[in-house]
Amino acid sequence: METQIKKLGEKNISAAKEILIRGGVVAIPTETVYGLGAVGTIPLAVKEIFKVKGRPSDNPLIAHVHKDYDLNKLVYIEHDYVYRLLERFTPGPLTLVFNSKRVVCDEATCGGQTLAVRIPSHEGCQQLLKAVDMPIVAPSANLSKHTSPVTAQHVYNDLNGKIPLILDGGKCVGGIESTVLDVTERTPRILRAGLITKEMIESVCGSCDVALHKEGDKVKSPGVKYKHYRPKCETMLFESGDIDGVINAYNEELNKGGVPFIMCDSVYEKEFSGKNLLLLGNTPEQIASNLYDKLLDGEKKASLIIAIAMPDEKGVNMGIMNRLRKSCG
Ligand code: TXA
Ligand code: MG
Repeated sequence: METQIKKLGEKNISAAKEILIRGGVVAIPTETVYGLGAVGTIPLAVKEIFKVKGRPSDNPLIAHVHKDYDLNKLVYIEHDYVYRLLERFTPGPLTLVFNSKRVVCDEATCGGQTLAVRIPSHEGCQQLLKAVDMPIVAPSANLSKHTSPVTAQHVYNDLNGKIPLILDGGKCVGGIESTVLDVTERTPRILRAGLITKEMIESVCGSCDVALHKEGDKVKSPGVKYKHYRPKCETMLFESGDIDGVINAYNEELNKGGVPFIMCDSVYEKEFSGKNLLLLGNTPEQIASNLYDKLLDGEKKASLIIAIAMPDEKGVNMGIMNRLRKSCG
């Protein structure tokens, strides 16, 4: 199959809609990462997503809808705080997990009782969702376990020949996947950290729990138990401030004839001057925005990416650290 990359605009939205309503899959931009979409009520289309990605069949998908879509068609909204979250943070990088009315097919929810729903803020994505006016289920548009794509070219590199169309809506500004929040209980609970932080949710809901996962645990958000986000080269992760550890690892790799790159916050730029660097930026938002782009750039030229942890897990750093541990840890 030939995979086409087309600029996201009116004409190509129609082309994407045609493919989708006939049960095909299309890669679409969102403000976080690119997604691989299919209509959530067409079981064969949803199965195709799992096949294309090589995704484990017990890892459910997020349903994406436009901002005027009536969520009551899909899920039960059981707590008042949900309306405040919707008002404050959507459209945007927040996914809410509800009890499902099972309109979206079991192939997407992996037979579970719940459905994850997200209203992306990406303008072009909104236009597409509006045109289709049905829930589009979409995981990140990468091969399973690989780093998530933030450009149309990244999607192409993973899925060329497997899907008909990639809608190019530019580079994703968010850079890491949405916060996944369980809203079926009295207190909301973060299942996957992201750009909508625990602190932001607390400011609206009063309190917010964070689900903790240990290796091998049966977890409520199945995606977090798998190896994830890995670039194709070797990786290492050092504690924040461990300059000596990083330099030793760097030199060792050089001595082996390898090509090390240090991926870090721009505050380390002087410290590591003269070395191969993948600089992520200064603020947590910049670092999140650049993380996958730098990993995917790094895997092309490095034999080893040496990453450095954030100094803490506050705010957006929680989401960054979650990704860093899985991609480089
Ligand atoms: O930003 C994002 O969320 C991107 C863009 C494309 O929207 N999507 C994304 O999808 O990251 P994916 O499939 O790569 O990750 C979805 C995460 C997984 O960890 C999955 O286990 C979890 O959401 N999830 C989906 N449905 C769930 C459910 N019903 N209950 C709990 N967790 C769920
Ligand atoms: Mg993913």
